[in-house]
Amino acid sequence: MDKTLRDLLIDELHDLLSCEEQIVKALPDMVKASESPDLKKAFEDHLKETKGQVQRLQKVFKLLKTEKKEKFCSATKGLIEECKGVLKDYKNKSPVRDAALISKAQRIEHYEIAAYGTVRTFASELGLREVAKLLQETLDEEGNANKKLNKIAEGGFIFSGINHEANLSEQDDSQESIKPRSRPKKASNHKNSNVLDVITAIPKKIKDLSKAATQSKKSATAQKASSAKKTTPTKKTAPTKKTAPTKKATQAKETKSKNSNISDSKKTDESHPTSAPKKTKGGSSKG
Ligand SMILES: [Fe+2]
Repeated sequence: MDKTLRDLLIDELHDLLSCEEQIVKALPDMVKASESPDLKKAFEDHLKETKGQVQRLQKVFKLLKTEKKEKFCSATKGLIEECKGVLKDYKNKSPVRDAALISKAQRIEHYEIAAYGTVRTFASELGLREVAKLLQETLDEEGNANKKLNKIAEGGFIFSGINHEANLSEQDDSQESIKPRSRPKKASNHKNSNVLDVITAIPKKIKDLSKAATQSKKSATAQKASSAKKTTPTKKTAPTKKTAPTKKATQAKETKSKNSNISDSKKTDESHPTSAPKKTKGGSSKG
């Protein structure tokens, strides 16, 4: 017999129960691993919430009059493995390690948001109002937990963390305490400057570049105009220079026609027009 939507809902709820139980076990390590007091508190609060979510699921199973099935959520296992990987890759507590923990924790939150959104919809479709309401409560908690992590990341934590690292490399002072820093007003050209500052500096740079481009265009056109003025007289003189030898050549022709035979003068004109008069002279002597 094919499974019904209700069967699918129950399967998914068991998967979620496995998910929550694994998270309850993993969160204490996340609390220990984080450096930021805000992040520690966020993980602690979510641990309490998650324990409540397990109880809420058990209520749902009671409402559905179904017994707990053994089901293991391998997706959650993989996500928790990634969290454990952070502790291996970032051995010491630091803002960067906190950022990595937030990144991994948010993946778990998003997985839960997707899963609870689906089961809540299934329950609504089946007309299970009370079940849908309980699942919505958990969905809201997961959404808020995700927002809280965003706030910790965006509300100065990530910014101060990155600057802290940058300042350490500049001052070579590993003992400096981590203090939240205000965002610098002007973007610096330092390689460790904040990404936001670089982005805000881009429009100004574009303006400067376009100014420079228009100036270079103007100077290029001015140069072209001046060079055109210079070259025009040479163009005019060029034909006069060329016409000069032709005049001489015609004179030579005339003298040739006078002093020598026609066939000799034609040969000298085509091959060596400039030397033609000399040859004609020779020709005249020959003749
Ligand atoms: Fe949860």
